[in-house]
Amino acid sequence: MEKTILLIALVFMLTCNPTSMAEEFIEENKGHQSELRTYIVHVSRPERNNNGVSLQSEELHGWYQTLMPQTIATSIQDRMVFSYRNVVSGFAVRLTPEEAKALEEKEEVVSARPERTLTLHTTHTPSFLGLRQGQGLWKDSNLGRGVIIGVIDTGIFPYHPSFNDEGMPPPPTKWKGHCEFTGQRTCNNKLVGARNLLKEALEEPPFENFFHGTHTAAEAAGAFVEDAGVFGNAKGTAAGMAPGAHVAMYKVCNDKVGCTESAILAAMDIAIEDGVDVLSLSLGLGSLPFFDDPIAIGAFSAIQSGIFVSCSAANSGPEYGTLSNEAPWILTVGASTIDRKIAALAKLGNGAKYQGETLFQPSNFSSELLPLVYPGLNGNNESAFCTPGSLDNFDVKGKVVVCDLGKISSVLKGQEVLRAGGAAVILTSPEIVGYSTPTTAYPLPAVQVGFGASFAIKSYINSSSTAQATILFEGTIIGDSLAPEVVFFSSRGPSQESPGILKPDIIGPGVNILAAWGVSVDNKVPSYNVVSGTSMSCPHLSGIAALLKSAHPDWSPAAIKSAIMTTADTKNLGGLPIVDQRHLNADIFATGAGHINPNRANDPGLVYDIHPDDYIPYLCGLSYTDREIGILVQRKVVCANVKVIAEAQLNYPSFSIILGTTSQYYTRTLTNVGPANSTYSVDIDVPFGLGVSVNPSQIRFSELNQKVTYSVEFIPQVRENRGNHSFAQGALTWISQKHTVRTPISVIFK
Ligand SMILES: *[C@@H]1O[C@H](CO)[C@@H](O)[C@H](O)[C@H]1NC(C)=O
Ligand SMILES: *[C@@H]1O[C@H](CO)[C@@H](O)[C@H](O)[C@H]1NC(C)=O
Ligand SMILES: *[C@@H]1O[C@H](CO)[C@@H](O)[C@H](O)[C@H]1NC(C)=O
Ligand SMILES: *[C@@H]1O[C@H](CO)[C@@H](O)[C@H](O)[C@H]1NC(C)=O
Ligand SMILES: *[C@@H]1O[C@H](CO)[C@@H](O)[C@H](O)[C@H]1NC(C)=O
Repeated sequence: MEKTILLIALVFMLTCNPTSMAEEFIEENKGHQSELRTYIVHVSRPERNNNGVSLQSEELHGWYQTLMPQTIATSIQDRMVFSYRNVVSGFAVRLTPEEAKALEEKEEVVSARPERTLTLHTTHTPSFLGLRQGQGLWKDSNLGRGVIIGVIDTGIFPYHPSFNDEGMPPPPTKWKGHCEFTGQRTCNNKLVGARNLLKEALEEPPFENFFHGTHTAAEAAGAFVEDAGVFGNAKGTAAGMAPGAHVAMYKVCNDKVGCTESAILAAMDIAIEDGVDVLSLSLGLGSLPFFDDPIAIGAFSAIQSGIFVSCSAANSGPEYGTLSNEAPWILTVGASTIDRKIAALAKLGNGAKYQGETLFQPSNFSSELLPLVYPGLNGNNESAFCTPGSLDNFDVKGKVVVCDLGKISSVLKGQEVLRAGGAAVILTSPEIVGYSTPTTAYPLPAVQVGFGASFAIKSYINSSSTAQATILFEGTIIGDSLAPEVVFFSSRGPSQESPGILKPDIIGPGVNILAAWGVSVDNKVPSYNVVSGTSMSCPHLSGIAALLKSAHPDWSPAAIKSAIMTTADTKNLGGLPIVDQRHLNADIFATGAGHINPNRANDPGLVYDIHPDDYIPYLCGLSYTDREIGILVQRKVVCANVKVIAEAQLNYPSFSIILGTTSQYYTRTLTNVGPANSTYSVDIDVPFGLGVSVNPSQIRFSELNQKVTYSVEFIPQVRENRGNHSFAQGALTWISQKHTVRTPISVIFK
């Protein structure tokens, strides 16, 4: 509970639960239509039409309409929200519950259920990730030239300097997308497409209501913009990961309805036809069966067209099993810090100083000690969180006010303290936050501190009747040797839906990220802001996937993912294992394969490739019914005729094993994408409590794209050897003279 509250406050996200959305909908649609809701209807597409010919995609819309109840025949144009052509066999339509029930009884209809709303889950990151002009991956990919990234998000400000197209060539001729902006502020060779898929707003071009889409699109593919920064901090040249790539925005969220499922499916459906190369989705619904998850469904069609799909892992950490977007054909991205701190110190009357972060660092704030108060001391929850109006009965004039993080956005807390006459704010964190300090643009002098500091500051207040404090601003500091550090909110594995696949796949920059913003928080143009979330780490990986696609046009989405995962860093800048928000070694369910290293991903040596058809034996192995698998793959699958595999047998670039008392045996197939003649030897970091045997232990390649299969056996040991641990982790690494191909191993003990 506390966690949910915190997320709303800390992380940029939209919160629209299905209930509140239904209520709003009813309000807006009084009278006869009051019961109408948007339903997602899956149908089994007829193999042939009456003339014995397969239905063409243009004919699908007409055929879908024939399935509708007679009673709505006259209003069908109004009722139809979207006819899907690629991502699902089916459509979105506004129906009453009775109409939906009648529809579901038709033989062709697989399911008809009300749509759900999804939750949205930002100068310095290129250099932190080792991306430099004229070197490595930026050189080999020509900054992502010729690649189109489709961003499915909240819309975009087309005139932001991050989307300036100076020096950009037109998009490749395969691009068929549209731009709904008109006039001077329209699309260009950088922003090549922009659509609004929210039916009720179709007449409006996809302008941004939230800044989230502008931020994520700029992180993936923003142009170089000099002198970006906020309040003079985090200054530098802003750039996305793939500054040479094109962007297309598909708007699926607004401030009225949230992010609707029908719009997300529509966006993916259209993006596939438009010709995008990469799809970036910083939103999700939590763990769901893949046939019931719109993003998993859309992504399955996308990968069949060779489109790479990158998604946020969600912001529900640090508890285990809190992921969204778990399908193995998606790259699932967790969030970690960068080595930049926008630093400030909370200094107490007893001389103690505690490190924190804050964006707004006014130079005229005095370093003299002021009285320090914690309005939450009287046990009043509202005043503890400094909610609007909650400081009415407190004398905070000219004082430093302690406010607890959570419940409402930290900016609102700042406004309440300002309103009540406070001089400054210290934002204190609960235990789950650990040392993380995802900061924001407070409207007054402030500093946000981690849990340890929070506890010490409150103890000091308790112990002193004349508590005092001030804030010392330190500006932007680069070089935190603990970076990358997994942030508390980054969702953790294991995967709930498919525990045999290790998730998240990777972590990337997602804390205090500067990128394009819609309106300037300091009323200066160009406008930038610093925000945090897996919403921010996802587009970083989308941009890097675009670079890899540009450098290696022949790589499949699975090959790109493998390159990203097998070359990831497991050490931080200080050369020690990556830590989490508690400053303890981060485990495999926090980091997945580790932290993205773009230049190494450009030259992985070997990849684990997966053909889209390879997922069918895997899906059958998840015990989905033929009908359920049909929703995903859009053709008839009979699992009884398929050589079903265990989840961990999928040719995935990691292992996730659930080990009982018997040995398990899997194979993996490597494809040589490095030098033709190369020899690899295996190195095993054996997880404790079991044995691992790999055969063969040396592999010699003699050709490019040559495939070699090896086998791995996981052998349980006597239970006593496991201690009281519920899981263990290790890695299997193929090493040649030039390459290190690392596959992480997680083992959950049954
Ligand atoms: C600091 O400067 C700002 C903007 O110029 C002003 O609004 C504020 O009152 C000043 N604060 C102090 C403590 O002088
Ligand atoms: C105040 O917070 C505590 C702990 O978070 C909670 O148990 C209690 O229900 C809250 N009280 C009110 C009135 O919200
Ligand atoms: C401070 O005092 C309050 C009220 O006595 C108590 O609930 C709280 O736990 C104390 N906090 C610390 C950090 O000692
Ligand atoms: C690979 O090695 C084989 C045998 O050693 C040799 O015949 C072949 O020319 C080599 N190929 C390349 C590309 O170096
Ligand atoms: C777990 O193992 C550790 C070390 O082996 C031991 O100190 C601890 O008491 C054990 N905990 C439980 C609950 O058995």
